[in-house]
Amino acid sequence: MSTIRSATAVAPANIAFIKYWGVQDAARTLPFNGSISLNLDSCLTTTTVTFDPELRDDEVTIALYGRAAEAASGRPRERVVAQLGRLRALAGVATCARVDSANTFPSDAGIASSAAAFAALTLAGATALGLDLDERQLTVLTRRGGSGSACRSIPTGYVEWRIPEGPFDAARWDEESYAVSLAPPEHWALADVVAVVDAGAKKIGSAENHQLAATSAYFPARLAEIPARLAAARDAIARRDLELLGATMEADAVSMHAVCMTSSPPSFYWNAGTLEIIHAVRAWREGGLAAYFTIDAGPNVHVICADGDRDEVARRLGALPGVQFTIANGAGAGARVVG
Ligand code: DP6
Repeated sequence: MSTIRSATAVAPANIAFIKYWGVQDAARTLPFNGSISLNLDSCLTTTTVTFDPELRDDEVTIALYGRAAEAASGRPRERVVAQLGRLRALAGVATCARVDSANTFPSDAGIASSAAAFAALTLAGATALGLDLDERQLTVLTRRGGSGSACRSIPTGYVEWRIPEGPFDAARWDEESYAVSLAPPEHWALADVVAVVDAGAKKIGSAENHQLAATSAYFPARLAEIPARLAAARDAIARRDLELLGATMEADAVSMHAVCMTSSPPSFYWNAGTLEIIHAVRAWREGGLAAYFTIDAGPNVHVICADGDRDEVARRLGALPGVQFTIANGAGAGARVVG
């Protein structure tokens, strides 16, 4: 490659209704179960990838929300460089790249910034190199980057990350585990109000803990429940049935955390503020406000409701003593090239 080639992509974070938890093959990021999520319209990462023949090494800078850009080092840089390597191998080039990435949301809000980051990185890199990939291939390549949930940030709106039928076979699953849109964001105006109860608790990568899931005696029970939950979530999305989606989503989040709490060694992600919100959301429902909780690998709580209820939910969450601040999102589009 003798010329500079550059592209910029924007990708959203996503919130899982049915969680990815547990990895069967860490090298290829192959999960035990399928998962379903919604892209978030205000939590975005913008990434520019520039392949430049003058560079002697890859350069990675990340601008966290509200902070100046800083050179990445250690594990975060290694993961980006590994993904650049996958892109280069596909394109058959050896050119080094400069990666500049910026987030529109606080990294300490319990929203998986790695999903938005790896989706934007993969799309920008593939575009800069002129790779001819369809959306499914792009999701496979994004998944291989190691933040599996990132593959769900490529397609638009409501998205399912699928696992193939039949017994586990790493080579076949590597080709056939991909993400696909179930519905565009306009299909159903839901909101996700994130209640931050511990801004200090950065959502650390789940990589190690995905490998511990199978040590829980409850993990087989969780996996046995997942096909019915996926079917219920697909059906709820198709029919815009918030009661069904909410009940399914809450059961799945509690099941994931039960696995975490019973893994060896265990992880207890919830704190007192987390439980306070769980109780409050259930009480609001008794009082007629249709709101449902879900929780990722951290203490902060995502409250899902109709978009028309987002301000009321944010107001009520903000009034709880344990809540430091809230971030509200609507349903969002998938990753796109912007330059
Ligand atoms: C609990 O390994 O995809 O959010 O932890 O950000 O690296 P990072 O993401 P990933 O694990 C996601 C775990 C989860 C559930 C989910 O999003 O499906």
